[in-house]
Amino acid sequence: MRASEVPIISVVGVGYVGLTTAALLAEAGYKVYAIDLNAKRLETVRAGRSFFYEAGLDEIIAPNVKSGALIPTDSYQESIPQSDFVFSCVGTPDNPDGSSNLSYVFSAAEQAAGLMKPGAIYIQKSTVPVGTGAKIKKLFLDMGRKTPYVSNPEFLREGTAIEDTLSADRVVVGGDSRKAAEKVADLYRDIESQSQTIAAKAELTLPDIPATRYFVTGLESAEMIKVTANAFLALKISFANSIAKLADKADADINEVMNGVGADRRIGRAFLNAGRGYGGGCFPKDVSGLISSAADYGVDLAIMTAAADVNESMPGYIAKKAQEALGDLSGKKLTVAGLAFKAGTSDTRRSPGVKLANLLSHAGASVTAYDPKANGEAKEDLRKDVELCDSLEQAAKGAEALFISTDWPELISIEPAKLKRLLRGDLLVDCMNVFDPAEISKADLRYIGVGRGR
Ligand code: UGA
Repeated sequence: MRASEVPIISVVGVGYVGLTTAALLAEAGYKVYAIDLNAKRLETVRAGRSFFYEAGLDEIIAPNVKSGALIPTDSYQESIPQSDFVFSCVGTPDNPDGSSNLSYVFSAAEQAAGLMKPGAIYIQKSTVPVGTGAKIKKLFLDMGRKTPYVSNPEFLREGTAIEDTLSADRVVVGGDSRKAAEKVADLYRDIESQSQTIAAKAELTLPDIPATRYFVTGLESAEMIKVTANAFLALKISFANSIAKLADKADADINEVMNGVGADRRIGRAFLNAGRGYGGGCFPKDVSGLISSAADYGVDLAIMTAAADVNESMPGYIAKKAQEALGDLSGKKLTVAGLAFKAGTSDTRRSPGVKLANLLSHAGASVTAYDPKANGEAKEDLRKDVELCDSLEQAAKGAEALFISTDWPELISIEPAKLKRLLRGDLLVDCMNVFDPAEISKADLRYIGVGRGR
């Protein structure tokens, strides 16, 4: 491709998905505008960094900002009119009633469509309820625009965002124009063809999995694939947590149960890990958004309501088990280690660890907390009397119990003997089910897991 022929891409919304997508497209050789109205975020990206922690991302952002391939901007005028592709990656927070707040989605579409050149393709990456694309297409027509619209849901996970994009199970592109959908798929084929080189630059090793499968579908099907996949994964987790509650009563070990169950290839072992439940910016919001959008179509998704209820119950279930082991919690020093919603990220949105720390503090305990990357983000969600510490040692010193609520390597590799020396009490609450109860007992510590029996 000659420089003048390199397609130009705008990515609207520099969040987890938008920034990763923009950085990888720039690295694959495109000229990419990363548009956001948040001045602080833009400033960080201009300095060659991500505003959140994601392994390998800074290594991709820095050289591309420097070379001018990745251009952070707050100006639609500067970027959209020259772009051949416009990706919408804006946030879709949930409304108080659980439905998706689509105001950013519609305002981004309206602003961009007014400036897009003929033939340029509008691509929806934000997670939206089925039927949204049809409404946006109508908006375009009402504006006198025939802009092709493609739904291209995102499946990357925080913490492994780059690996997930470079070695995706599938790419889904859905719309009325097959030609437009295929053009979008070609961008991913291009990234895929360079995946090893890009991974090396990001200092990451890609998993050895089959080549990406490309699905060109109808618009509504593409929209449904995304939320259905997330809902099913959430369902698996809540199913495992429901069975874990039974395992606790029946003295079975949920890890052994799910290893046996998941060995059936029709079921699969992934996402059957019981523990403190799912959090983050996706599952909780996508499940409630799906329930609400199904209700709009007159469909009662009771199965997902049950999954959400089970998930909500898990931090309280763990706090109750700890209370049974420790007695009255008032005044007791307890430590919660792991405030990110999962390992590998600094994101604390809907974090079960934060919820647990707040519940224990509410029950009167004197709570200390620590996370390798998420202390800063957790601060505003934690009750004021939860004390944030700079290390696991500092947090757990003299505590009655340690709750491990995220499987950060640093947290789950703690030696039981060392823990025994640190604690005043003798209780390890393994909210991730990653420790071997026998090893913990050997160190003269008591062990509580989720569904690990008595
Ligand atoms: C999830 C999906 O996995 C991605 O495919 C999707 O693109 C993304 O949402 C999105 O919609 O943008 P993410 O939220 O980053 O990705 O994280 P996951 O790795 O899926 O974990 C979600 C939560 O489930 C975490 O709190 C994790 O600890 C929990 N989890 C996961 C369990 O409790 N048990 C499990 O077995 C697996």
